[in-house]
Amino acid sequence: MILWAFVTVLCVARTAHSRIEQPEKVMIVELGNSVTLRCISCNNNIFWYKQVAGQQPRVISAFQKLSEPIFYNKYKNERFWGKRLSCSTNLTISDIIQSDEAVYYCASREFYTEFGNGTHLKIKGHQAAAYKNSNLDHLNSSIKCRQKFNENSTTEMCNYL
Ligand SMILES: *[C@@H]1O[C@H](CO)[C@@H](O)[C@H](O)[C@H]1NC(C)=O
Ligand SMILES: *[C@@H]1O[C@H](CO)[C@@H](O)[C@H](O)[C@H]1NC(C)=O
Ligand SMILES: *[C@@H]1O[C@H](CO)[C@@H](O)[C@H](O)[C@H]1NC(C)=O
Ligand SMILES: *[C@@H]1O[C@H](CO)[C@@H](O)[C@H](O)[C@H]1NC(C)=O
Repeated sequence: MILWAFVTVLCVARTAHSRIEQPEKVMIVELGNSVTLRCISCNNNIFWYKQVAGQQPRVISAFQKLSEPIFYNKYKNERFWGKRLSCSTNLTISDIIQSDEAVYYCASREFYTEFGNGTHLKIKGHQAAAYKNSNLDHLNSSIKCRQKFNENSTTEMCNYL
């Protein structure tokens, strides 16, 4: 009886500690490049899910400790592959396209499904747009600077204002 209780407590403690770590919160990748999403969990059944903002998470693939990964639906193509070595499960997406932008969740299923905190995959095109805007802002402020002070003052001078 005491042994049984001990084993139960041990099992509960172990379940409570089953962490699913996704070390990267955000990854930024350029169109056409590839990216490897990392998940660290020692649980047996590991899944990767993709969630596009405002939609339900969709399963990409399943990994068991001792078998080849299974890819589902449209993820059954050469752009997606994965590898598991004991507690490390990687999902690699190559030839990145715009619609790959999403949050990718690693999950484990024992008695119920538990999720990691997710990795937000961002496509660099969006960053470039933001950068262009900030360049415009910059240009604008140096124009304003010249209007304010002296039409002949150099851009270099205004850049530091
Ligand atoms: C997930 O995020 C929460 C809140 O930021 C944090 O407390 C927790 O440690 C994170 N989990 C892992 C496995 O990184
Ligand atoms: C996953 O990728 C990381 C670095 O990107 C590497 O250190 C690790 O060994 C990889 N794990 C597997 C199972 O391939
Ligand atoms: C430049 O400044 C003007 C006046 O302050 C503003 O109306 C305009 O939106 C600015 N343009 C950009 C690209 O920031
Ligand atoms: C700016 O330069 C022009 C020609 O180089 C000159 O005629 C004008 O007086 C200058 N303006 C000021 C405010 O220095």
